[in-house]
Amino acid sequence: MFDVNEIRKDFPMIVNRHDLVYFDNAATTYKPQRVIDAVTGFYTGYTSNVERGDYETAVRADRAYDHTREVIAKMIGCDPLEVCFTANVTASLNQIAYGLSRCWLKEGDVILTTKAEHASNLLPWFRLEKECGVKVEYVPVDRQGVCHIEDFRNAMHKEVKVVAMAMVTNVLGSLQPVKEICEIAHANGALAVIDGAQAVPHRPVNVRELDIDFLGFSSHKMCGPDGVGVLYGKKKLLADMAPSFLGGGMNARYSSDGSVILKDAPLRFEAGTPNIEGVIGLGAAAEYLMEIGLDNILAYETELRTYTAEKLKKLDNIEFYNPDNHSGPLTFNGKGVFAQDAAGYLGSRKICVRSGNHCAKILHEVIGTDQTIRASLYFYNTKEEADRFIEAAAGISLENAVSIFF
Ligand code: ALA
Repeated sequence: MFDVNEIRKDFPMIVNRHDLVYFDNAATTYKPQRVIDAVTGFYTGYTSNVERGDYETAVRADRAYDHTREVIAKMIGCDPLEVCFTANVTASLNQIAYGLSRCWLKEGDVILTTKAEHASNLLPWFRLEKECGVKVEYVPVDRQGVCHIEDFRNAMHKEVKVVAMAMVTNVLGSLQPVKEICEIAHANGALAVIDGAQAVPHRPVNVRELDIDFLGFSSHKMCGPDGVGVLYGKKKLLADMAPSFLGGGMNARYSSDGSVILKDAPLRFEAGTPNIEGVIGLGAAAEYLMEIGLDNILAYETELRTYTAEKLKKLDNIEFYNPDNHSGPLTFNGKGVFAQDAAGYLGSRKICVRSGNHCAKILHEVIGTDQTIRASLYFYNTKEEADRFIEAAAGISLENAVSIFF
């Protein structure tokens, strides 16, 4: 049974800093004790490199590292050999863009995306515009960032070779119809690259059921350590894809004439010593989330978000940009107050939120402002915290925001 009060005991940051209302979970999440133990257990009990040693601790490290591949495969519904470890979702998306530029895309091809994406799902494609002559086009989204399937269908055409979209966007929390998007993309001969950074931590995501070609996400947004990400790709697509990085661990052999034979995926995409402790911690985090149940997490967060949104809607001093979205952050401004000043005021009341453009620097073309405050919840937050947040948000005014500086 889902019991948030029990869950909260698992998080030292909640226990040690219960003075804070941490609503910046879209930026990064707290870590449960078992993730911390998994990381320190590696440091204190079996430190060694992976995929290279034949002694007891090295074998143990190999097993723990490879175990995470199995856990992640179970979590997203794929084969462990389709799970590659990267540094974060940004690295995953850069690898996909680079890889596809070498085996799939050619001059004149189109990447279809939206203006609601995070920089990590735009800049790698912008680079290909300059370097490979592909073109980036945008599917329209509504004022709350949602892509409607008829608009998507209308935006598809035969030059589109890649569709690159977030499943849930990082500012407005727009949940995109990924299953239909993948179906339409495939029917038109395009691949679907999905940024799962704000989706995988919060809801069940099954790559087979959705028929996603590539998925990227980050460990630190799902209770795991920083500096680790996942790149999922269908086996046959990974087999054709060139790695961005070359070096140790990813080659089978090479010769003095410069010829190189690469290993198969996933090791092909893991050049150099990886973030071993991070990967082990990610495995512990994914197991923890699955034990709680991604369905339970989704149901609890949806209820908490609705509860908070209903209260935020009633505040006259607030402009609320995504009241109707049921997932992701609550994004708003204090009327007439600069977002960072208002976030500073909330910070002075111990409410932790993010302000600014949140790395989505063309979203202002959709919502008309490039400065917002983002309150992002997770399954360990409570209605009591939401009430504290609402009480503080009700106090956002120019006068209060300025007063914290004097
Ligand atoms: N990508 C993270 C965010 O949206 C950092 O805040």
